[in-house]
Amino acid sequence: MTMTQSAAIHVEEKTGVFHLQGPGMSYVMKVQEGGYLTHLYWGRRLSRYRGSADVRYEDRGFSGNPNKEDRTFSLDTTPLEYPAYGNTDYRDPAFEIEWADGSRVSDFRYKSYTVQKGKPALDGLPASYAGEAEAETLIIELRDELQQVSIFLRYTVFHASDALARSASIVHEGGEPFVIQKASSANVDFRSRAFEYIHLPGAHNRERDMVRTPLGQSRAVVESRRGSSSHQQNPFFALVRPDATETSGEVFAWNLVYSGSFLASAEVDQFDGTRVNVGIQPFGFSWELSPGETFTTPEAVLVYSSEGLGQMSRTFHHLYGEHLVRGSWKHRTRPVLINNWEATYFDFDEKKILEIASRAAEAEIELFVLDDGWFGRRDDDRSSLGDWTVDERKLPDGVQGLAEKVKEAGMDFGIWVEPEMISVDSDLYRAHPDWCLHVPGRRRSESRNQLVLDFANPEVRAHILEQLRTLLAGAPISYVKWDMNRNMTEIGSPVLPAHRQQETAHRYMLGLYDVMEKLTQEFPEVLFESCSGGGGRFDPGMLYYMPQTWTSDNTDAVSRTRIQYGTSLAYPSAAMGAHVSDVPNHQVGRTTPLAARGHVAMEANLGYELDVTKLSDAEMVEIRDQVRRYKEVRHLSQYGTLYRLADPFQTESYATIRVSSDRSEALFVYMHRLAEANAPFVRVKLDGLKPDAVYSVDGLDRAFGGDELMYAGIDIPVIEHDFQSHLWHLKEVKA
Ligand code: GLA
Repeated sequence: MTMTQSAAIHVEEKTGVFHLQGPGMSYVMKVQEGGYLTHLYWGRRLSRYRGSADVRYEDRGFSGNPNKEDRTFSLDTTPLEYPAYGNTDYRDPAFEIEWADGSRVSDFRYKSYTVQKGKPALDGLPASYAGEAEAETLIIELRDELQQVSIFLRYTVFHASDALARSASIVHEGGEPFVIQKASSANVDFRSRAFEYIHLPGAHNRERDMVRTPLGQSRAVVESRRGSSSHQQNPFFALVRPDATETSGEVFAWNLVYSGSFLASAEVDQFDGTRVNVGIQPFGFSWELSPGETFTTPEAVLVYSSEGLGQMSRTFHHLYGEHLVRGSWKHRTRPVLINNWEATYFDFDEKKILEIASRAAEAEIELFVLDDGWFGRRDDDRSSLGDWTVDERKLPDGVQGLAEKVKEAGMDFGIWVEPEMISVDSDLYRAHPDWCLHVPGRRRSESRNQLVLDFANPEVRAHILEQLRTLLAGAPISYVKWDMNRNMTEIGSPVLPAHRQQETAHRYMLGLYDVMEKLTQEFPEVLFESCSGGGGRFDPGMLYYMPQTWTSDNTDAVSRTRIQYGTSLAYPSAAMGAHVSDVPNHQVGRTTPLAARGHVAMEANLGYELDVTKLSDAEMVEIRDQVRRYKEVRHLSQYGTLYRLADPFQTESYATIRVSSDRSEALFVYMHRLAEANAPFVRVKLDGLKPDAVYSVDGLDRAFGGDELMYAGIDIPVIEHDFQSHLWHLKEVKA
């Protein structure tokens, strides 16, 4: 990226123009006559805004006029920053409030602004953070004078990234309670419909397909109603120019820093404008606000790129690596782990675990993770969630005894928990049948034989937190896998009154964040990895608390090329767990070579998830070699700058390169799906290297110029079999 200038916020009080500058982008707003906060421009950096994109005034039929003296002005035809419904704008509103008199008409006008260095925290919500030298924040107040209510719009620009962090707070200073029916985190009104949109739909075991669709004169919606960000959609949404590619063209992207139900929509209007708004899912949501109270939306991160999707991703990765992930693991080398789930499922005892652990230790794996089945009487998925005490039938010396033995075998110890859940067959449920989300008198629908604990209830949270504290303090545990294996149904909380029932799902999220905040602060050295049946909650909200996410329960190398590609659109490699598992693969039945499984997993946080005691000596040597190799390159796998080179959704090839910050070394990963007879040669153009440097390529025992590698490309050896793969470490050498 060629961005050296720094971010800035310029306010021209005379004209009412707010100009936000990132290193390569500008975002311009203006207070229009009447006090309407309009959106004028988001795109490539402008040195100064002098009025070329000002609002056009024109009399349009069926677009009413807030000022009857001026038929050329209608909110329906004006690009707005935080639009309301009910007074001439018929497009999708950014928010909706039901006032005490039953009406939903709002009229918020510009009142004031402040600018500050750095970035204020969002109380109780995950959000990007920045020091005073790293960002600036503009806060604009809009006011509805009739209701005595203000909306504060927050915009943070970062000095080093073309990213904008936005959120809104609704502050009640009026007389009677009212109900928020919708409150988006961000709205952007483009005066163009020359876009396609990209989103990341999927399913359990098939997360984050990358799908690109044209926009029509209609509303495109990407959403979750599941009480979590979900496998089925990700809270990522991008508009791209039709000519945009991986390496060129304009991209505008949104990512919601939230782990619950969300909505992102793009509506093309009658005059070829496109309105995007992103935020909490309004379906099944409402929030009563009393006088003196504030409601704050989650944060939306907006990223602009003038150089295609690749640059968009690098901006997200940098932002999340520097300004979202926190704690002692922020920049720390992530360990190679082995997890016993696919090796044993629920069927293990201490002896079996120690056999796996000692064999894994021989392969120089660093961390053993004990998965589901160690607590209560959990021999299958029908019981014990909520009872976080060890099952002594399986582990007679407790978690502590096992952890100490694993440590003696030469590895750190980690453990699986699913704290948000409760089994009907559990001591916790028998003691507190009302501690789950439910609606009195109605069926409690189970999913994977479990119910969801009511994290909106402080008593429930305190109880779970206490059990987790006891677990973590009672044994040398250095890693926690925090799972969540179902979506919400019968969303109701007995601790909330009738008129607040629709607050339950959001209060649950706030409660969950509260527990995660406390636990991660109290155990700062523990590496937390979040999980929801794999990647059902792979979102920036989770990454704020837990620096890693289990990317997918699907560990097949071929499936993983797509899952990791789609995930990498927004999320950095250091956030992704990637494991080598058994063949035939447990999810898709496919048999791929150990090399391919290793190479694909080695581009993120490498782990193993298979019964190593059943492998041959030759396979164990191969695994040990993979682990050794990975340790040499993992600074690139985890923290290198990513360039995607071949798209597995479009071609048989998958290729990525991760480059060190000084561009003196890089890690290239390639996998070819199916071989063909008499196949064409494959050549891949690398990216991110120094054109004038010479690099040795270890896998080829050759050296080439960076310019050759990037502009002419590199030959992939002839594809001789399915799933052929390569992992090459490039190092700058003296020319
Ligand atoms: C989820 C996780 C798996 C495993 C199981 C255990 O499906 O994604 O990795 O931990 O739960 O029940």
